[in-house]
Amino acid sequence: MITALIMAGGEGTRFWPLSRKDHPKQFLKLNDDQKTMLQETVERINELVPLEQIFIATNKAYQKAIKKQLDGIPEENIIVEPMKRNTAACIGLSSVMIEDKYPGSTMIVLPADHLIKDQKRFLDILRKSIMTAATGNNLVTIGIEPTHPETGYGYIHFGDKLHTIDGDQVFEVKNFTEKPDLNTAKEFLEEGTYLWNSGMFIWRLSSILSNIEIHLPEMYESLQRIKGALGTNLAEKVIRDEFENMQSVSIDYGIMEKADGIFVIPGSFGWDDLGSWPALERVKKVDADGNVVIGKHYGIDTTNSIIHSPNKVVTTIGLDDVVIVDTEDAILICDKKRAQEVKEIRNILTDEG
Ligand code: GDD
Ligand code: MG
Repeated sequence: MITALIMAGGEGTRFWPLSRKDHPKQFLKLNDDQKTMLQETVERINELVPLEQIFIATNKAYQKAIKKQLDGIPEENIIVEPMKRNTAACIGLSSVMIEDKYPGSTMIVLPADHLIKDQKRFLDILRKSIMTAATGNNLVTIGIEPTHPETGYGYIHFGDKLHTIDGDQVFEVKNFTEKPDLNTAKEFLEEGTYLWNSGMFIWRLSSILSNIEIHLPEMYESLQRIKGALGTNLAEKVIRDEFENMQSVSIDYGIMEKADGIFVIPGSFGWDDLGSWPALERVKKVDADGNVVIGKHYGIDTTNSIIHSPNKVVTTIGLDDVVIVDTEDAILICDKKRAQEVKEIRNILTDEG
């Protein structure tokens, strides 16, 4: 039995002001004009996993919007975290709840906000990951060949080849380093023995739960108390109480950096995590001046810029390498090279978040 968990509780702050506290990145239509990234994620995995076996984990704040966007997913498959406690707690709670419904299943964990161009190849790699994960107590990741020293990703140092499945190789992982600094990322790139962590994981429920027990024992205790309350009228209260004191750590720092028995399958299927505004250059049309324009723009000597303004005409003179984003109530004007820092803008905003 295969189940899928889509993690859809992050905020995607680097797409401010289009992404907002109540309208996170996974609800944006960055790639397709009709569908949100979350809807695209569900459609993609639904070719392999029936809707009844797809679960969405999110925060209370996004519960209603998700229900509206995904009317084919059973309501009880939307797993609600009472407060934000990062991806380890999200995956822990979801594992316990999915275990209750589909015990013994192998779970595919997916982020809700990525772009995948080659669907056929993606499903092929997933099937091979499932074959690898379903047979042992291991944690399987999908690795992407790195192209630049990105500091926003996890790096997988792969070791010996375990075997090949129909042309695709499965490697043992020596170690996992989440979000290294720039110099370390440069070293990793030069070594040639590192892959980016795609953020997708495949494992049996028992494998991830036993790793939580070893590496995050307090979280495991909490999950056991939640497990004991499931199906009773105390469940919601117990989940809330346990989350209140739950450690907030990502699965990458909390488990992947520490665990043994990690395997990686390198996969190339046109993966992009669309991390910040300049990523639009990879998915939208770039005009002769090197600009990506969504909406209407008239420019004199304006080059290599991202201009997003669906409702107002934007005019610019003598600008290179900038990001301009206009929304109903907020505007961003930013040096394109510093687009990663947009998430810090969010920290200094209070009401406008
Ligand atoms: N339900 C829930 N609850 N989902 C969450 C939470 C939470 O508290 N926090 C984040 N998410 C969701 C996000 O919406 C996203 O879909 C996914 O979990 C990953 O979180 P990000 O915040 O986007 O992680 P990241 O991009 O910094 O890093 C991860 O992804 C990289 C690839 O894109 C890591 O796994 C890296 O190692 C990896 O390289
Ligand atoms: Mg991300």
